[in-house]
Amino acid sequence: MKGVILAGGKGTRLAPMTSIMNKHLLPIGKYPMIHYGIERLAEAGVKDILLLISKQSAGLYCDYVGSGDQFGVRITFRVQEDADGIAGALGLAEGFVQPQDKFVLLLGDNLFDDSLGAYLAAFARQEKGAKVLLKQVDDPRRFGVPELEGDKIKLIEEKPSKPKSSYCVTGIYMYDGTVFEKIRSIRPSRRGELEITDVNNLYAAEGSLTYEILQGWWTDAGTFASLLDASNYLQGKERNGR
Ligand code: DAU
Repeated sequence: MKGVILAGGKGTRLAPMTSIMNKHLLPIGKYPMIHYGIERLAEAGVKDILLLISKQSAGLYCDYVGSGDQFGVRITFRVQEDADGIAGALGLAEGFVQPQDKFVLLLGDNLFDDSLGAYLAAFARQEKGAKVLLKQVDDPRRFGVPELEGDKIKLIEEKPSKPKSSYCVTGIYMYDGTVFEKIRSIRPSRRGELEITDVNNLYAAEGSLTYEILQGWWTDAGTFASLLDASNYLQGKERNGR
């Protein structure tokens, strides 16, 4: 299975650091943030990875990631000119991913311990549709929040004021090739972005959006508080040789 990692966006919640450097190059523990997502995919056997970046810091990405050799993967870079949303960025993966392919998408600011191998294998067996990974969180209002119905998701609400569950949709998504038609059919949200939640809700409406729950540590390192938590956690892990 191929992989796509999104590492563009404006990183406004991490300004002013992100006025000089793209968010995914900020240090967490010993490495820049982007290191961890590539490592997770490599470990799960995903060897062909598209890295979607912004114009800002493009040279630094190349300095650090290069061809992907140090991770044992092959990296292809593509630039997202305007930060028009997660689904907008994902649309640029068409061509890298063929219509008959299934693939995994990671948001580059999501850091986690679970190995992805078993989830990818389960999705490979799924006849069609998409799969997302969920995590129970203290404040679901910061995230996409699913309404569950058996082993499927009925609907996802993006940053709801009254969440319908204590789960959030993490930035780990698996799609079939119909995702690109779906992206073409959605319109920008009130904040002017093509939302991944709108795409996922098209799968939910078809009854083909499945989920699994992440077992281990997970964070979205997009705020100063979560960036610090992630640094502490990953540094501790490094110290203990885990
Ligand atoms: O972390 C999980 C959450 O990620 C989900 O629960 C939400 O449903 C989903 O919308 C998303 O919410 P965020 O508000 O955290 O998304 P953010 O704008 O921070 O972007 C997430 C990642 O995608 C980040 O690594 C940057 C990248 N990105 C974002 C945009 C808007 C791009 O590469 N291009 C973009 O245009």
